[in-house]
Amino acid sequence: MAFNLRNRSLLNMQDFSPRDIRFLLDLAAELKRAKYAGNEVPKLAGKNIALIFEKTSTRTRCAFEVAVHDQGGHVTYIDSASSQLGRKESLKDTARVLGRLYDGIEYRGFHQTVVEDLATYSHVPVWNGLTDEFHPTQVLADLLTMQEFGEKPLHELSFCYLGDARFNMGNSLLIGGVQMGMDVRIAAPRELWPNDDLIAQMRSLAERTGARVTIVEDPQAGVDGADFLYTDVWVSMGESMDAWGARIELLKPYQVNAALMKASGKARTRFMHCLPAYHNLETETGRQIHERFGLAELEVTDEVFESDASIVFSQAENRMHTIKAVLVATLG
Ligand code: CP
Ligand code: NVA
Repeated sequence: MAFNLRNRSLLNMQDFSPRDIRFLLDLAAELKRAKYAGNEVPKLAGKNIALIFEKTSTRTRCAFEVAVHDQGGHVTYIDSASSQLGRKESLKDTARVLGRLYDGIEYRGFHQTVVEDLATYSHVPVWNGLTDEFHPTQVLADLLTMQEFGEKPLHELSFCYLGDARFNMGNSLLIGGVQMGMDVRIAAPRELWPNDDLIAQMRSLAERTGARVTIVEDPQAGVDGADFLYTDVWVSMGESMDAWGARIELLKPYQVNAALMKASGKARTRFMHCLPAYHNLETETGRQIHERFGLAELEVTDEVFESDASIVFSQAENRMHTIKAVLVATLG
């Protein structure tokens, strides 16, 4: 079955079919067990992997590095400050160079077209480590985490994504949830909904996968009966700091706090976040926002973030197991 995915790129969740995703989640769970049991078999010996980061990262970079190391391969980290990329060499030329040297390339940056061009010109598998539009490796980790904590098949589970739903996380969770036949809710102000074409496409896919798609402005209606409440930062990497004022005004009603968790009406609703999160004043940006707007907690309260319902660090760990599954399936 893994044969299917050999040499394939992951640029967007839609590059993989529901069957491919189920296979990757099973493989990730197997690799996780093998790592815990200490009997992991390296499948990436002799493989060289380039990791390009045009935006900063903690989880994605570390997950790729640890996954490749565990599987016996090697990585090279490349950013725009210390390489020729962007300033002195075009992406197209860089892609053709790296394609001659590496077996696969991870890319994090701004526009989706860049990661698509990288795949076209490098002729090796390319994995999207986050663009403005999509964050597919995050959603694979989220699906595995929902499967683990939901203790039911994904198509029997529901989640509500709250916040900026027109950016990478909102788009990718919508696609991933629909692919897996889930009860997918998005609660966001109208101007931050995914674009109409994507919504229409997902409503049509939902008819085939059995998913339910609910997109509402009312946060209480969105979370009603949801197994998981999911949020993300209100202003993403690459957006201007000037966006904060308007975004806070729009998204304040969608903050995940104890009252909203309770509004799910379920005793065991869990809290999810791709991280990093602004839930206290322990970050420089968090303190700047506090000085300017007086808010000490943003998309999630510290109470919810630190509560037993929060499964954010399991999500973070699962980044590594799921990325490892993608690498093993596409290159191993
Ligand atoms: N969730 C996520 O992608 O985290 P990083 O930005 O730290 O990679
Ligand atoms: N929407 C966030 C996700 C971070 C993992 C961002 O793009 O900054």
